[in-house]
Amino acid sequence: MQQVAHSLSIEAVTKTYGPVHAVDNVSLSVEAGQFLTLLGPSGSGKTTLLMMIAGFVEPTAGEILLDRKSITGLVPEKRNFGMVFQGYALFPHMSVADNVAFPLKVRKASKAEIDERVKTALDLVQLSTLADRLPKQLSGGQQQRVALARALVFSPDLLLLDEPLSALDKKLRAELQSELKEIHRRVGTTFVNVTHDQEEALSMSDRIAVLRDGKVVQYGAPTDLYERPATRFVADFFGAANFLPALILDRDESGFAYEVAGSRFEHRQAAAPPAAGQSVLLSVRPDKVRLQPAATEGAKLLGTVRVATYVGRQFHVVVDLGALGRFNVTLPTALAVGDLLEPGAEVALTWERDATVMVEHD
Ligand SMILES: Nc1ncnc2c1ncn2[C@@H]1O[C@H](COP(=O)(O)OP(=O)(O)OP(=O)(O)O)[C@@H](O)[C@H]1O
Ligand SMILES: [Mg+2]
Repeated sequence: MQQVAHSLSIEAVTKTYGPVHAVDNVSLSVEAGQFLTLLGPSGSGKTTLLMMIAGFVEPTAGEILLDRKSITGLVPEKRNFGMVFQGYALFPHMSVADNVAFPLKVRKASKAEIDERVKTALDLVQLSTLADRLPKQLSGGQQQRVALARALVFSPDLLLLDEPLSALDKKLRAELQSELKEIHRRVGTTFVNVTHDQEEALSMSDRIAVLRDGKVVQYGAPTDLYERPATRFVADFFGAANFLPALILDRDESGFAYEVAGSRFEHRQAAAPPAAGQSVLLSVRPDKVRLQPAATEGAKLLGTVRVATYVGRQFHVVVDLGALGRFNVTLPTALAVGDLLEPGAEVALTWERDATVMVEHD
């Protein structure tokens, strides 16, 4: 079922509803065959952007291009895109096979072609044995797989997905995430997926665009966004980051040193090193922080354990740093030392030199 894939470019696209900028001057492009995720909180403009790609919503300004040719004025029927939405209902009176065959019948495909394509599509989503069932005889996960088969059966130029997994429970969602990724690999079509779930975005995507208030605040590969968030918002969105106001002390070619709460820290990484005397905001992920007894030689950031919660493979610890606020620390259970986790324990925080990332205030 490997198909010719297409590139997608969005150029300065805006959609306003009266005073509301639902999508605000968004530009991004995705290469043929990539898996793009639009990620952002509720109301950030994800669905509006997807609907403009699909052709159901007309941009107020800007251009949408497929393989560098404008499709901005094209009606949805002429775009040949597959779509799966959250709870995008199947036809209840039609069997699984007839549901999947539907787009091919609309396109007046021959019976032989329909039979072959429906079989291939149902194999792809592992539902061949349920072809004769009605939708109501399927689980939620199976229904979404039928919707996926129906969206892929006619070899669409793009597959658009709007929170297709959000109605499913956590375990099933994780299963379908890896299945969707595998299907993407097998068909090779360009996918554009919408979600507000950062784990889903990280696990499935080649590229992620983080949206906030209709704007793209960062665009990149999952590791770029997770390891090098550009702003406080992005760092926070990818999981309970800690923030520290710091003062830059000095710098050289290999990095810089900064001061937090009267202590000196060194930092090796220096893509765009700040100037001495500058105030910056640093972000540290909870899983990069380690705890030591406060009495440890050279201990720097001292705090008090407020609460430690066991969640299976790890402990979530909240440490009160006084004027610096509260810090979230995630410790693998194997590294969790009992008396450092008691409420009231006096601890020091440490991390590797490369663990901090400088982020913009926003
Ligand atoms: N037809 C419309 N008329 C007026 N305002 C709209 C319309 N569609 C969307 N909006 C507004 O545009 C903004 C973006 O909405 P959109 O549905 O694109 O967000 P979203 O990121 O998909 O959110 P969610 O995660 O809740 O689905 C919101 O403020 C919304 O209220
Ligand atoms: Mg939406």
